[in-house]
Amino acid sequence: MQIRPMRPSDVDAAEQLSADAMLELGERTRLAAGPPATRRADWWQGQWRRRALHLVEHDGPGCWVAEDDEGLLGLAVSMRRDTMWGLASFFVRPGAQSRGVGKALLDGALTHSIGCTRGMLCATTDPRALRRYHRAGFRLYPTMCAEGPIDRSLLPVVEHVREGSQSDLDLMESVDRQTRAATHGPDHAFMGAAQPLLVSDSHLGSGYAYLTPSGAYLLAATSERTATALLWESIARTEGDTFAVRQVTGEQDWLVDVAMAARLTLRQEGYLALQGMRPPTTYVPSPHFM
Ligand SMILES: CC(C)(COP(=O)(O)OP(=O)(O)OC[C@H]1O[C@@H](n2cnc3c(N)ncnc32)[C@H](O)[C@@H]1OP(=O)(O)O)[C@@H](O)C(=O)NCCC(=O)NCCS
Repeated sequence: MQIRPMRPSDVDAAEQLSADAMLELGERTRLAAGPPATRRADWWQGQWRRRALHLVEHDGPGCWVAEDDEGLLGLAVSMRRDTMWGLASFFVRPGAQSRGVGKALLDGALTHSIGCTRGMLCATTDPRALRRYHRAGFRLYPTMCAEGPIDRSLLPVVEHVREGSQSDLDLMESVDRQTRAATHGPDHAFMGAAQPLLVSDSHLGSGYAYLTPSGAYLLAATSERTATALLWESIARTEGDTFAVRQVTGEQDWLVDVAMAARLTLRQEGYLALQGMRPPTTYVPSPHFM
């Protein structure tokens, strides 16, 4: 086995490997009463590749792969924003897991965290991942997913929320500093290129939310009232029939209140892993840009 820095030419194989590993994890951890595990949808597949290229370009020292005679064996893709380190992807090929490859990859990625005072990542329920994160000094907080069909008759009138653009960067960076003590650096431009953006800036507070075709992706606000308005507007602007918001911690009563009022279904899903900080209340992280 060889561990080396990730290159742009690794990205296609890395996307395949990550999709294989997620499918295998989904099948292994599927609840008897739950839906069958499915492979990553087309939109997410393209977005995964573009995101990995973006991170290899901006965070080369944080992106590592392992390979053996059969090809790519695993990957760890991480980033550093101000003094926060985050992990975007961490996968070992199914069939080669539990043999120490993950540890070697994470050790490589963690060299990118030297000098950081905080860390954040969104974890699956794989016990091996959780063990690795705990051993790296992360605290684990269980998270929920709120999802379900959109009942448009339940949507309230929302004020002070508008479409955003990259001209709102100063506002978004100010909100980032207040909610997670670190900006997103080049990631706002990346997310904004492919995803709708909502912004709120009023006497009630400031905030923003990026959307996916089926839900909220990243939501940050300086007050619960602004976060609540952004979440309702995210539901209203979702084009599909269903909405989902993930990485919800027990601290986020305001979000659970919206989920219940919108008649979404709550279930437990994964963990938020943090180092040097407590779970934020009005910040719902992106699984990839935290
Ligand atoms: C998570 C993952 C990348 C870790 O890589 P890996 O090569 O399997 O991990 P390692 O072998 O280096 O380490 C696994 C650790 O978990 C332990 N472990 C193995 N099976 C376990 C189990 N069932 N319960 C608890 N711990 C377990 C191992 O003993 C080892 O800990 P140790 O080194 O302290 O003894 C890999 O398992 C994977 O791809 N999982 C599926 C995708 C996933 O969930 N990725 C995480 C995204 S957040």
